[in-house]
Amino acid sequence: MRNIGFAVVGCGTVSGYGHLPAIEALEGAKLVAVVDIDQERLKEVVKKYPQARPFTDYREALRLGEVDVVVVATLPSSHAEITLDSLRADKHVLVEKPPAMNVQECEAIVREAERVGRLCAVDFDLRYHPAFFQIREQYRKGRIGKLRAMRIIFDWYGADHRDPKRGREERLMREGSIMFGEGIHFIDMVRWITGSEFGKICCVGTNIQGYANPDHMVLISVMEDGTIVNIETSHGYGFASKDATMDRQVDLIGQYGVIKWTAEKGLIRVYGRDRTVEMDAPDVKKFVPLYKDLLESVREGKIAPNLPTIYDGYQALKVVEEADRVVTRIGFRNH
Ligand SMILES: NC(=O)c1ccc[n+]([C@@H]2O[C@H](COP(=O)([O-])OP(=O)(O)OC[C@H]3O[C@@H](n4cnc5c(N)ncnc54)[C@H](O)[C@@H]3O)[C@@H](O)[C@H]2O)c1
Repeated sequence: MRNIGFAVVGCGTVSGYGHLPAIEALEGAKLVAVVDIDQERLKEVVKKYPQARPFTDYREALRLGEVDVVVVATLPSSHAEITLDSLRADKHVLVEKPPAMNVQECEAIVREAERVGRLCAVDFDLRYHPAFFQIREQYRKGRIGKLRAMRIIFDWYGADHRDPKRGREERLMREGSIMFGEGIHFIDMVRWITGSEFGKICCVGTNIQGYANPDHMVLISVMEDGTIVNIETSHGYGFASKDATMDRQVDLIGQYGVIKWTAEKGLIRVYGRDRTVEMDAPDVKKFVPLYKDLLESVREGKIAPNLPTIYDGYQALKVVEEADRVVTRIGFRNH
């Protein structure tokens, strides 16, 4: 069987620790091209992956017949353009989150993927995170009965903890709010775990680091199936404190039990009706299983059940857009 060829566009942070090593580790995958507008970065990447052809313009990589899948890992403002051009060049795409700047752009991607009959996946990699994956499994096994409430807290110190240059964080925060850049992961998580869509949304936000967009936000909603949800997401949590700190926990509160994960302990506890069960669930990112599903989907011409697609990206962006609309009105003060 022929290897599936990959081109990675945008070889920055997430490609460095996630995409490039995953492609290299995957049997049946071949890294054909790497693309970055930053020549210095490109040189470093080629040193590490000499088998890949380097380009500064992604359009040149799209001309290579050996490229089957394009990974789009630039900043969100260029996701839609690169994704649409890749689909038009008859490539499959894995695009980073958020897949586009807004719902309208995302709709254009959904339409184009349908028109050309290519797969467009979105890197909601939390679906493969050991904790979220196991939480969903436990819930689906009926351990806590029907879900009534779900809460996710993911507060981080941000990419530039105590870094006066504020390089990466500043670039990302210029593109949108923390709900847009980060909370979108958890919006997808809630949809994936409940199997339901968001209803009315209320959202408040504040600005801890002083950027133009809120970097600490809380969203509450009622899902169409009646589950109440709250999501707290932050990149300002102790961003300037001497020691870095985080707060990450997930609770599923059911009809007769609770599933609880805390990152600090790296443990899930399932408080069922008859017994309490404990299992390991470290806070680690998993790109390889997502890539396995992507590869299988491309080979079989059928989307693997857990693989997040552009349709999931579109649904999540609708929630983000609504949250950003209401947060500006009721909750956010730029001080
Ligand atoms: N799924 C995850 O867990 C996860 C984690 C971190 C970041 N991300 C997302 O990944 C994307 C990239 O984030 P990052 O932290 O790696 O950013 P980064 O700034 O570290 O890297 C982006 C890279 O893209 C390059 N680039 C920009 N425009 C380009 C273009 N037109 N053509 C080619 N290269 C271009 C830049 O030179 C840079 O090297 C963002 O959308 C972010 O939200 C996802």
